[in-house]
Amino acid sequence: MKRVAILISGGGSNMVALVNSMTGDHPARPVLVASNDPRASGLEKACAAGIATAAVDHRPFQGDRAAFETALIAHIEAAEPDILCLAGFMRVLTPGFVARFQGRMLNIHPSLLPKYPGLHTHQRALDAGDPEAGCTVHEVTAVLDDGPLLGQARVPVLAGDTSETLAARVLREEHRLYPAVLRRYAGGDHSPVFFGS
Ligand code: GAR
Repeated sequence: MKRVAILISGGGSNMVALVNSMTGDHPARPVLVASNDPRASGLEKACAAGIATAAVDHRPFQGDRAAFETALIAHIEAAEPDILCLAGFMRVLTPGFVARFQGRMLNIHPSLLPKYPGLHTHQRALDAGDPEAGCTVHEVTAVLDDGPLLGQARVPVLAGDTSETLAARVLREEHRLYPAVLRRYAGGDHSPVFFGS
């Protein structure tokens, strides 16, 4: 059975989708949910699900990313994960952190990468007049929002969409895609999953 640690920064809806999927014959189980924000509401959800949680507030580190990560890594390593899932984790990682977990670290991003790395992905898709949008799961490498593709889900952009309505449509797909990718990945199959048009 593979051990999965999940990093979050906020509500953790993707984390909940991952946790709920890891039952029965799934080849993995959640062992830790950690956040850079002690007030992240996802921590309570993880706790309610009976999963160990940890919070390392990044703010007292005042921009010293390496020192923040050293504290976070102590919690992660103590949980002995085989796989690390970033699920709405909104801190940029140092090359040292990436090197430590590369090859076993996944991320979900709310765009059809390589389009729109970074923030404000839905507004950028709307501004560009894109006919479709979506989300991507990929292995994390030292380049932000880059790395080998593990899955992609597409949704249509509809007339009258705002970034909020589009984000909600994409998020529903995130909750399908990330668990599907994790199940396949944890079973040793790194070939990509594709959903949608
Ligand atoms: C999700 O839409 C996720 O794709 C995005 O943050 C949201 C987190 O929601 N991640 C990024 O933008 C990473 N660059 P959640 O906390 O409800 O899962």
